[in-house]
Amino acid sequence: MFQLSAQGLQEVQKELKRYETKESAIIPALYIAQKENKGWVNDEVIHHLSKVMEIPESRINEVFKFYTMFNQRPVGKFHVQVCANISCALNGGRELAQHICKELKVGYDQMTEDGRYTVSKVECLGSCGTAPMMQVNDKYYENLTPESAMNILRGLK
Ligand code: FES
Repeated sequence: MFQLSAQGLQEVQKELKRYETKESAIIPALYIAQKENKGWVNDEVIHHLSKVMEIPESRINEVFKFYTMFNQRPVGKFHVQVCANISCALNGGRELAQHICKELKVGYDQMTEDGRYTVSKVECLGSCGTAPMMQVNDKYYENLTPESAMNILRGLK
């Protein structure tokens, strides 16, 4: 059964106090919970947040299912999100995403057999001036080439 850590609970309570309505804290609370649940959100997480925040599960689910940055399935230790939007696409972002999948022998949104990586193709991550780029967990990597991206990914600890 999922439960936030003491620190996670404290962070969610802080978010609840930050806004005029409790609902405004749903996005940050989902982020906190997703991080503590190995990078994804399931029914147990929604149930726990509903109790902690005193918000109906249906309301939290609406937000959770709308935003693509919340994962509905387990992801690898490193969630590799490669931007395939216009600036990145014009600078090889789509080929970069394909190259990473080929090298890691995995399809989009699938986890490698060793549980190390999940590769996703995503929309603009707001770093268009340094295209092509990828986000791995919380970190951005920019001005990538297929070689530099694979060096980064293989070196992750
Ligand atoms: S188009 Fe890739 S970061 Fe904006």
